[in-house]
Order: sequence, then C-alpha cells, then structure tokens
Amino acid sequence: MIPRHYLFDTFRGERVHLGVCGSVAAYKALELTRALVHLEMPVEVTLTTAATQFVTPMAFRAVGAAAVHTAPFHLEDPFQHLQPGELARAVAVVPATANILAKMAHGLADDLLSTQLLACPGPVLVAPAMNPRMWLASATQANVQVLRQRGVRFVGPDSGAVACGDMGTGRLAPVEEIFVEILRLITPQDLAGMRILVTLGPTREYFDPARFWSNPSTGTMGASLAVAAALRGAEVTAVCGPVDIALPRSVRRIDVISAQEMFTAAMDLFPSVDMALCTAAVADFRPPRQETKYKKDGQSLALTFAPNPDILAAMGKTKAPHQRLLGFAAETGDLAAAAAAKLERKNADLMAANPIGQAEAGFASPTNRMVVVDRSGRTESWPVLPKTEVAWRLLSWLASL
Ligand code: C5P
Repeated sequence: MIPRHYLFDTFRGERVHLGVCGSVAAYKALELTRALVHLEMPVEVTLTTAATQFVTPMAFRAVGAAAVHTAPFHLEDPFQHLQPGELARAVAVVPATANILAKMAHGLADDLLSTQLLACPGPVLVAPAMNPRMWLASATQANVQVLRQRGVRFVGPDSGAVACGDMGTGRLAPVEEIFVEILRLITPQDLAGMRILVTLGPTREYFDPARFWSNPSTGTMGASLAVAAALRGAEVTAVCGPVDIALPRSVRRIDVISAQEMFTAAMDLFPSVDMALCTAAVADFRPPRQETKYKKDGQSLALTFAPNPDILAAMGKTKAPHQRLLGFAAETGDLAAAAAAKLERKNADLMAANPIGQAEAGFASPTNRMVVVDRSGRTESWPVLPKTEVAWRLLSWLASL
C-alpha cells in the first residue's frame, strides 16, 4: 500500500509508460500501476515475452492500465514503439532484468520494450530485480555504470533474501520507493539546492519509566511537506517525534522522543538550512521524571509541569535573512487573527492555522482546512483539502517569499 501522504493531486493527467520484464517480482508492477492510476495518471504498460509468464496483460488492464502492449508490431498500430518516447513524461522499467539492462546499455532493439526504450529520449528509471550473482556479474555492473552515466535513474536493487533463497543484492526496491522516484522524475525541481528541515509528530514526556504525557499527532502534515519538498528537489531532513509514518529514503530521518531532544536536534540543524517547517505538536510542558514506576496507592498523583523550549520561537529569534520559517497554529475562534498574532510572536514568515475539534481538519485527519498568513499581511482561506495539497501550496508560497 502506498501511504496516503505520497499521493499528490498535482500529477493528475501525467502519462507514464511502464516496462515490465520477466522476474518473480513482476507482480509488484501491478501494485505500482494501481497506485499511479489512483492518482489519475494514464499508465500504458509493455510486457516482455518473459514477463507474460509471470503476470498477464489482463491483470494490468484490470488494475486500470490505459493500454497493455506485448507484440512487437501490430497491424493497427505499426508505430507503437515510438509512442512512449513521444507521449509519456517518463518510462519506468519495473522490474528490470539483467537482460534489459544489457540491451539498453548496448542499444539493442530486438523486441517491443527494448525498441521503445531506444526510441525514448528520457527520462528513464529502472528498478532492477535479479539473482545477486547476476547483479554482481561484471558484465551487468559495466552496463549499470554506462546507464548511470547516461542519466538513467536507478532505484535499488535492495539487499536481503531473493526468490531463489540466495542472500545478497538483487531484490526489487519497495514499490513505494519506486513510486516516489517516478513522481520525482517528472516534478519540476523548483526547490533544487534548498535544504529544508521539517519537525513532525508529537513528543513524549515521560514521568516514570512506563508512562508519558503526549498528544494524538500522527505527523501526516509534516510528512506530506517532507515528501513534497523531496519531490521538488530539496534536500530534506525530518526530525520526527515518535510516529509510525513512512518517509521516502531520499528524506533524512532523525527520530527523537521528547521536546528537549527535538529542540536539540532541530536547533543543531537550523543554521545549515534554508527553510524550517515546524509541524510538530510539541508538548508545551513536561512533568518531572522519576526513575521508578509510580505505585497505584489509591491516592491522587500531583505533578508540577515545567515549560518546554519553543522550537519555532527559538528559530525565529536566531534566523538569518535568507531563512524562511513556517509555523502552524491549531486554534478555536478567529483563525486569521490568531495566525497573524502567532506569526508576529514567533517571528515566522508564514503561519498556517487550522480549526481544532473538526472532523476534516487537524490531528489524525488526511485533510485540513487552513487560513494562511504571511508577513506582508496576505491572508488566504483554503477549503478542506488533502494535507498533500496543503503541503504543495505552502511550499509554493514559501518559495515565493
Ligand atoms: O505556540 P503554539 O504551540 O501554539 O505554536 C505552534 C507552532 O509552534 C507549531 O508550528 C509548532 O510546531 C511550533 N512549536 C514548536 N515548539 C514548541 C511548541 C510549538 O516548535 N515547543
């Protein structure tokens, strides 16, 4: 399953051509097709003859492929070998066998897929899958080097156990990684060269070895921003509170538990970044921590909480003129007024406020309803949108400041 925060509406209508080769991993190309189709991206598929021994053309049609090609030439369409290069935004070969890599490296065109690839000016992505000995064979490695030099994007292969039982490098990369890399290949790189820090998730404030004080943040808004920024070419580091949320490998991830740990990790990184996106729901207070477990004795437990450091405010105090800061505000009442006040108080550049206590916004929701304010006073009120769309818009706004 592709995580929901990897699904950006902006790719609707972008055509991708998928080449599938004969490998046990060929069935995973079905999941990939389904995910691309879910974004309403038209996907055409070419199966090699060997691929049809593992998966059927019908299965690709059934998961929504716009067309499936197998035969090299067709009476009705004698030029189908030219179409991916002319019409698709990218061609992805998933899984790619040693054979197709060899053909691509040497310009062989003896079946439909290899002919389509030769006639495609790019961009091309390959996700290899094969036995580790085949991957490590010097012929394959030489072909890989040639293809990399020509700009072919490789995703994987990964290490671990392969289908035949051998251990080593040759497993198909996870489908969600391939999916993200295909999207990245066709995304305008408007944030290339930017270093972006995202804080996300809740923090946990332990008051004994077994118990903590926290909040229900899932990190979805921050993860959406991290993925969007990575797709747009930024170098992204995510400082994550304890959340079970997937991030692509292209995002550097630093896991922390408490607000104080998050503060230290984020402030260490802050001087070296161009943007900081503070989405974390940091606990404002922390209880004193006792090293032995509190015993239940029928009495009430009274703890005096101390204030935690405010990461966004600390960044606002030390930020350099080129640095941009995004903050979030979960509010009741007048969102625009609250956002403007918080923007000022924390010296941020953009403040996004969402209402508290509504089903379609805030904690654990895949959507958000935002009022966004910048320092010039520009204020926008957005309808309920997927958090991925909110993330895309916020990055565009920040990049324009
Ligand atoms: O002051 P308040 O907690 O409402 O501000 C919310 C904004 O400040 C969010 O962007 C949040 O990530 C950030 N924040 C922070 N460190 C804190 C508290 C909030 O970075 N200790």
